[in-house]
Amino acid sequence: MSALHHETSEITAIILKAAERARRETSNEPEAAFVNRAVNWPVACEVGPGLEGAIACESKVGYVNGTKGWLVYRGYDIFDLCAYSTFEEVSYLLIHGTLPTAAQLRDFNRRLVGYRHLPWTLSRMMSFPVKEFNAMAGLRLGVSMMRQRLTYRDSESARPEPATAIGTDEDSIPMEVRPYGEEHAKYEFGPGKAERPEDARKTQDAAFGLEACCHLISGLATITAAVARLREEKLPLEPDPELSHAANFLYMMTGRRPTPLEERIMDVALILHADHGMNASTFACMVVASTLSDIYWAVGSGISALNGPLHGGANEMVVRTLQEIGSPKRVNAWFNRARARKQRVMGFGHRVYKAYDPRARVLGPLAEYLARTSKPAGRLYGVARALEDKVIAELGHSRKIFPNVDFFSGIVYTALGIDPGMFTPCFAVSRVSGWTARTMEYLENNRIFRPRAMYTGDMNLRYVPVRKRSGKE
Ligand code: ACO
Repeated sequence: MSALHHETSEITAIILKAAERARRETSNEPEAAFVNRAVNWPVACEVGPGLEGAIACESKVGYVNGTKGWLVYRGYDIFDLCAYSTFEEVSYLLIHGTLPTAAQLRDFNRRLVGYRHLPWTLSRMMSFPVKEFNAMAGLRLGVSMMRQRLTYRDSESARPEPATAIGTDEDSIPMEVRPYGEEHAKYEFGPGKAERPEDARKTQDAAFGLEACCHLISGLATITAAVARLREEKLPLEPDPELSHAANFLYMMTGRRPTPLEERIMDVALILHADHGMNASTFACMVVASTLSDIYWAVGSGISALNGPLHGGANEMVVRTLQEIGSPKRVNAWFNRARARKQRVMGFGHRVYKAYDPRARVLGPLAEYLARTSKPAGRLYGVARALEDKVIAELGHSRKIFPNVDFFSGIVYTALGIDPGMFTPCFAVSRVSGWTARTMEYLENNRIFRPRAMYTGDMNLRYVPVRKRSGKE
């Protein structure tokens, strides 16, 4: 066990208690239909709207049992990984398929530490109005910059000739400036060749490989921290190579070296969010990579999908809801109003889990633990507990709607001093391990994703010229 785990044995005890409760409340049989079965394609399955129930591929990366509330990464139970492992080790496990030896872990850490340092990317990001962006847009921008840095450019042939270049200068809006067939563009970049950065890779292949995965896992934390600071009008910080991934992430974001307790809780949060089956953002990554767009484009799409309030954006909305409710006494009235308006309660319900989400089983007690010492978290936690009781009483056993991972994560992040606008980016910092692991796995036997839609529109309509259209057809 690492020194950090010794120093934070209280946290280990909380996780083991949550694990014990989960095991007591769920039986231990996997679902025969979804594990250890060689799939004979084409496979017959019942598909609901939103691809519910569809089997899109085989995977050894992770398993979610929604009926029982299990989460497994590469065969290891999530509770054990939270109790005994670290985010670095879990990322290695997801990508490589086995837990690393001490030497492999050292080497992996060395790469992550190296890739934390992204001065070129950050300096370019700072020339954009990141403060005005949605934070996830800042992440997308950063990933595009990271890609450009690694591959430098798509190919020499994609570079426009100077005479046809779309020109710009300090004062002009970038635009095509030869609309009337002039011989030369008004504003042109000179024919001088931009320098390839010394450490840029020579080929696009680099953007598909394991190295790119390490680059993204490490780099997304640096970019997220930089976005957090730019939003507060502060300069990004240099990474500290002595710190763990979780501690360095917190440090670069908040400017304060975290205590071992804060570091451990962040580490557990990162482990819990690292992978989760074929969720919307993972699927988005895989769809994009299946076209042989590279892993940076894929992760950019994962970030976009995660941004939505039905997915990763829910934890920010949970905190806003808890703030709006304001006090445990007001929970009943708020809930009844929300139900009357058919409003969903953020942080509850899940496409796969029809039982208590195992991640919420860990984050709930951690939020409770932090609420004892953090006033803002304490206020939120009191309301959250009352809301949880109410929703479970009304919708839990009858509708199988229980808290999901997002219900408590915002309270945990609040106690760690993270701004609500940065909650979803924190999710991405973790989920990038699952995105890259599953994308790389899929690419081994790639087939472009291409489902069909049931056409329910008209047929055989007669084309009516615009002047004869009344608008009533
Ligand atoms: N509050 C109230 N009712 C709910 C909730 C909720 N949070 N979630 C689902 N329901 C109800 C729906 O209204 C629907 O009721 P109906 O049959 O009477 O119309 C029924 O449960 C089924 O809902 P679906 O939308 O079909 O469930 P689906 O599997 O498509 O949705 C989802 C899952 C999107 C997560 C949904 O539960 C939800 O919107 N939750 C709130 C947002 C949230 O917390 N998202 C985070 C999910 S975890 C993550 O992405 C990391």
